[in-house]
Amino acid sequence: MSGSFYITTPIYYVNARPHLGHAYTTITADVVNRFNKMRKADTFFLTGTDEHGDKIVEAADKENTSPRVYVNKISGLFRDLWPELGIENDYFIRTTDKSHISVVEKILQTIYDSGDIYFDEYEGMYCFGCERFYTERELTDGKCPDHKTEPERIKELNYFFRMSKYKDWLVNHIKANPDFIRPERYKNEVLSFLKEPLEDLCISRPKSRLKWGITLPFDTNYVTYVWFDALVNYISALGYPSDAKFSKFWPSAQHIVAKDILKPHGIYWPTMLKAAGIEIYKHLNVHGYWNIKESKMSKSLGNVVEPLTLKNKYGLDAFRYFLMRDMVFGLDSSFSEEALVKRINSDLANDLGNLFSRVLAMVHKYFKGRVPQVDSEIDREFSFTLEKNAAEAVTEFEINMDQFNFHKALAAVWELIGQMNKYIDVTAPWELAKKKSSLKQLETVIYNLLEGLRVISGLVYPVMPDAGKTMQKHLGLDSEIPFYELDLLRKWRIIRPGTILPKTITLFPRIDLKKKEEMEQIKTSEEIPGLKPEISMEAFSEIDLRVATITAAEAIPRAKKLLKLEIDIGEKRTVVAGISGSYAPEDLIGKQVVVVANLKPAKLMGVLSKGMVLAAVENKKCTLAIMDNKVKPGTMLT
Ligand code: MSP
Repeated sequence: MSGSFYITTPIYYVNARPHLGHAYTTITADVVNRFNKMRKADTFFLTGTDEHGDKIVEAADKENTSPRVYVNKISGLFRDLWPELGIENDYFIRTTDKSHISVVEKILQTIYDSGDIYFDEYEGMYCFGCERFYTERELTDGKCPDHKTEPERIKELNYFFRMSKYKDWLVNHIKANPDFIRPERYKNEVLSFLKEPLEDLCISRPKSRLKWGITLPFDTNYVTYVWFDALVNYISALGYPSDAKFSKFWPSAQHIVAKDILKPHGIYWPTMLKAAGIEIYKHLNVHGYWNIKESKMSKSLGNVVEPLTLKNKYGLDAFRYFLMRDMVFGLDSSFSEEALVKRINSDLANDLGNLFSRVLAMVHKYFKGRVPQVDSEIDREFSFTLEKNAAEAVTEFEINMDQFNFHKALAAVWELIGQMNKYIDVTAPWELAKKKSSLKQLETVIYNLLEGLRVISGLVYPVMPDAGKTMQKHLGLDSEIPFYELDLLRKWRIIRPGTILPKTITLFPRIDLKKKEEMEQIKTSEEIPGLKPEISMEAFSEIDLRVATITAAEAIPRAKKLLKLEIDIGEKRTVVAGISGSYAPEDLIGKQVVVVANLKPAKLMGVLSKGMVLAAVENKKCTLAIMDNKVKPGTMLT
């Protein structure tokens, strides 16, 4: 397959920090995106943040800040997290982007002009948590099924989208395209919902109640409902309507969401597209929840797991592998660190890691690290099984990846690993090595094992990009060749005989379960607000902290908070510190403070600052970290 491929994640609300649930969806999209690159597709991968609505205003209020400052901060947390998790998205959209807002306005106006948006009075049960009206039958014991709170009765004049008009069309579309919503259980869920009458969708909120939203282009007293704003991101990110990206990628659009937002994606979105005269997306892929002891992991339940903590503790590839291997896409899965450690030890350290170092150790032991020749005659006898096994693994992998059966795709790779171990047992290279007469057999066996590892390195790549690349390097493959492309993985005899391979390495170290006490730390760390993920000693040692004596201080004109400090840290330097409101310049002379000495210099209000002074900030007041006793300037803090 080549051609275009477009994959999206939900755009996440910025009312909470990213957690494992968000990481799972985004890593899945990354895996699918990389897989499509393996098929040489021209891909576009979108993620981003959903920044309007009551929830956001509430969260900003809680932090005593404005919605704008707040959304910038949390959106930044998502944006910065993704590269850490190996996510290679092509674009990061924010619903507060001007370009997005203008597309939302355009869509609203088009649907309004066509007569599918009308004004009416509505009285209904409104859940503020969900930011939507509920019908009686959607409530459980009169309460919102998600928030377990009683919705409030609200009577209001509002704008409505004539969604009911598109019900039959949608049912027909879903029936005519059986994998439009997948897995099947979610298609059935949507169809069963559509068996009941479909009500029109209230798409406005009066500004008297909510200002933080996109103003309706046809009535400035209202902002649009968050979902009518958010869903449009999938096309505004492509530059709808005129950008070439839109015509190129939209026809291949696939969305990934969890089951919590099935209804907006399975019902609102296709009917909105239809009403606006836009082609419908191709697939909606719906997964289940990551639970902790039976409850959905979510901020409101306070049981979230920090993805970065897991990455730092176990390694990125292992973390990604666990998520893709342990969850059956579509079903719920229970998260535990014990299960993660078990997977790492058995699948990665034992199966894959051992096979890899075992084969490479043989190359070094028997051939001084040189890739052996293959004897075609002998090869007929020795290679056929492995070559066939590898080809079957590639096919099985491709079929399952295509259907979002990631656990099965990976199981197919692990079957090949098992077959390679069997091949070693049957051919017994250590026996072949005993006699000179079986040298050619030994060479052929080892060569085929290297080729098997090459195929595995490519198949693990979308899930474990770093491990794939490391394996490739140790197999002597030129880093220029796209070793992960399926076409190449279907071929045999790619590695060049005669190549000298680097010494073998441990791909995945075993994890000692006794480190359990450390696991507990992950939970307690949730209790210190804003505590950053653990870092290694090595990472910390990169930061150079020094004692500095302040020798001069003066205010910087026009900069309210900034002071220019001359310091002595064994050499004279200038630093800029944002402490003006808390210290008068003259009080600082002679004080010994702590400075980050190896921070990249930065120009602040025209002054070049070479380092950063450490201070605690509490209620906007700064307190400098000051040495308790006189110390020689420049002394390192350890
Ligand atoms: N802003 C809306 C989406 C708009 S898309 C046009 C929203 N945001 S959200 O922050 O609540 O994200 C929900 C999504 O986060 C889920 O659909 C899923 O992708 C991911 N997950 C959040 N918690 C999760 C779990 N516990 N388990 C699995 N995925 C989870 O809804």
